[in-house]
Amino acid sequence: MCGIIGYVGNKNASSILLNGLKNLEYRGYDSCGIAVLNKELQTRKNVGKVSEVAKKENFLGLMGRMGIAHTRWATHGGVTKENAHPHLSNNKKIAVVHNGIIENHEELKKFLKNKGFNFYSETDTEVIPNLIEYEFSRNQDFVQACKKALKRLKGSYAVLILSAYFDGVIASRHESPLVIGVGDNEFFAASDIPAFLEYTKKVVYLYDYDFVVLNKNIKIFNLKKNEEIKVKISSIDWSVSQAKKGDFEHFMLKEINEQVETLKKALHQDKRVLNKIVTNLKNAKNIFFVACGSSYHAALTASYLFSSIANKQVNVMVASEFPNFNHFINKNSVVLAISQSGETADVLESVKYAKQKGAKIISIVNVMGSSLVRDSDEFLLLNAGPEICVLSTKSYTSQVVLLTLLAYSLVKKYEEVLKKINYLWNVVYYLTSENMKTKIKELARRIKNKEHLFTIGRGLEYPTAMEAALKIKEVSYIHAEAFPGGELKHGTIALIEKNTPCIVFVSEKNKHLIISNATELKSRGAYIIGVASVNNPVFDFWIKVPETNSFNPITQIIPIQLLAYELALLRKCNPDMPRNLAKSVTVK
Ligand code: M6R
Repeated sequence: MCGIIGYVGNKNASSILLNGLKNLEYRGYDSCGIAVLNKELQTRKNVGKVSEVAKKENFLGLMGRMGIAHTRWATHGGVTKENAHPHLSNNKKIAVVHNGIIENHEELKKFLKNKGFNFYSETDTEVIPNLIEYEFSRNQDFVQACKKALKRLKGSYAVLILSAYFDGVIASRHESPLVIGVGDNEFFAASDIPAFLEYTKKVVYLYDYDFVVLNKNIKIFNLKKNEEIKVKISSIDWSVSQAKKGDFEHFMLKEINEQVETLKKALHQDKRVLNKIVTNLKNAKNIFFVACGSSYHAALTASYLFSSIANKQVNVMVASEFPNFNHFINKNSVVLAISQSGETADVLESVKYAKQKGAKIISIVNVMGSSLVRDSDEFLLLNAGPEICVLSTKSYTSQVVLLTLLAYSLVKKYEEVLKKINYLWNVVYYLTSENMKTKIKELARRIKNKEHLFTIGRGLEYPTAMEAALKIKEVSYIHAEAFPGGELKHGTIALIEKNTPCIVFVSEKNKHLIISNATELKSRGAYIIGVASVNNPVFDFWIKVPETNSFNPITQIIPIQLLAYELALLRKCNPDMPRNLAKSVTVK
């Protein structure tokens, strides 16, 4: 939700900020804006995608060696120029970009209105520059004014502040992502590392209430503790090419293809950490998996594997529903949180609750230094590299393979997964081959005009059906719904009409029952797409996927990721930026 970037250094800020915005656009693409300081504050913003707005408003025409910029995913207030960031104080001397939600903005607005301030947008953000202006008018110390103003905010924020009163950029965070990049005589502050990856790989991860002053140096204070913090610089091993499209037309296709490599990388884990996690899971009186979206589907998949392979019962919760079951958590519980970004607000909130109850927190996450990593007792990284497309593809299969590794490790069969990965590598290679893509394109052409589609599976294939439905609906806007095969006759089959596409996931274990379900659907007129290792007369279209048993959730989803991509292209939807969506959901 929203991407922010700031720069202080010797180069021209506007081109660096524009580049950063392009790399952050996956976080929101409703509107964008920029502010650059060159004695005076200059601001430009508008509604639309980054490249369109930058051209129209001539972002590169702004000269100065420090600035801040924002790309917006609208939460408070519609998609209008007035609501686009940066927001200015009434005297136009202070500019702020913000990601998060200021919960007490109404109260602060009332306070400021009483002091004579006016408001020009519907956003919660606009209170911040005005609160700083108010505090500055009282004691003429800009850094102190920013500290005082930020201390009055309730809710979540990652903010960057630029002002004609101060030669630098101020950055601060509370429950929203923000990371500092340290270059040669230059600093960056951004929602995510890809925003400045081409300039530096040295980063400073920030904690809640950190308040950073960036000018010729970097100083960090903690607003809560009222003390200066030691700056700790870490190095990251992501490469610039990982965050670029390269020869691919879209990040989605690039990231689907990368699965040949990323699955192996997910298994590169420190054995000691893995063993510690396995011991925690073994000793736990109850285990909860919490996650959202695709990560939730990975968790659900893993719950079947924990049951069948390790004989362990797991409670799987959509993170936003977890508070309803919070009273089952105690110091003997393990909460395993799964998140690509490590910044999903509901996941972080669940972890916070569980920690208060004394539970052990383990996480599986892709982004090093993310809030979830810092809130966990132990964590495993997916090692999938940056995932830029709003849709989870490579991170999903990496989550599944890593959770599969955990299930096998619980029964001391860790090596078995490592052995199987080579076979899996060949299968994934075939699944992302040109032959497969041609076949999937043909299927996409056949079903591209459909309004509804159903996916069905049983057992381990049911979460795959859920993930398949999510992939198709979120990028092609075809209504897609998943069902366990056994549920159809309890209502859903009423929706089947002549040629309604139904994707059926078949495994060796469940083949008899699921084929029988497919036959029932076909007798009501459905167009059956079989994802199976062998063809069957009931299939109108067959996607051949070799049987990989407990790895079926990885192999069976890949052709459907490709199908979702092809459907998006045929329906003229942007695969990397689906409407109304943002990559990280950092608000509840
Ligand atoms: O970063 P997270 O894994 O916590 O994100 C969870 C969901 O927001 C994410 O999986 C979302 O559902 C994707 N759009 C799925 O493709």
